[in-house]
Amino acid sequence: MKSPPRRRIRSFVRREGRLTPGQERALENLWPRYGLSPDRILTPETTFSRPVPLILEIGFGNGESLLQMAVQYPEFNYLGIEVHRPGVGRLFLELSEHHLDNVRVYHADAVEVLQSCLTEGTLDRINIFFPDPWPKKRHHKRRLIQPDFVALLANRLKSGGLLHLATDWPDYAEHMRTVLAASPAFQATEPDRLIPPRPPTKYERRGRRLGHPVQDLAYLACESKRPKDR
Ligand SMILES: C[S@@+](CC[C@H](N)C(=O)[O-])C[C@H]1O[C@@H](n2cnc3c(N)ncnc32)[C@H](O)[C@@H]1O
Repeated sequence: MKSPPRRRIRSFVRREGRLTPGQERALENLWPRYGLSPDRILTPETTFSRPVPLILEIGFGNGESLLQMAVQYPEFNYLGIEVHRPGVGRLFLELSEHHLDNVRVYHADAVEVLQSCLTEGTLDRINIFFPDPWPKKRHHKRRLIQPDFVALLANRLKSGGLLHLATDWPDYAEHMRTVLAASPAFQATEPDRLIPPRPPTKYERRGRRLGHPVQDLAYLACESKRPKDR
């Protein structure tokens, strides 16, 4: 008898969380304006009003850094992916209050969105700020930064595109360095003076309160070393 297909290990545990009435309304009313369906391939030319570089933030949490970038650097287009519904609702409210039209959002698993909605060489930059550290050794397999995922990121970035990671967990930073060093598609670069720079985030503040050292890592997608479509 054929055994059932094994479920992919996910980088998150889906918790609904409580939505405020404002977030609930925002999700309903603003979905047509900011929300993207994970069932369709993204065409930036028709999704955004201007053909400018596209920046993706994975796991934006409450949306603070994505919002701040979009406000301060409106010369870029932005995509956000987050599985936590209250965070998506909160970001929708803020986008609407700031009259922003250069941001679109997936409420879905980033692995699935990257695999099914984004095509090769679509993105100019990918930001992953303070991804869940999964500190227990038996949970390390849940960490987002893994060789296969990094190869997928490299494929979706343009040549010369940038991957910006940040973490306050030294052993996750070490793991990120090891995985990225083993990828021929990426070359380490200086994380200083990036435009847009990384705004502060909720999980960064939490890490600092706990006395954790915050590390930013940046990598360039090497020309001609892009992995085949995945
Ligand atoms: C530790 S929080 C950091 C949030 C935010 N970046 C910050 O610095 O405040 C990690 C976030 O990543 C989201 N996340 C984890 N895995 C994800 C995935 N596969 N796709 C989309 N979001 C994911 C979680 O829901 C959570 O909001």
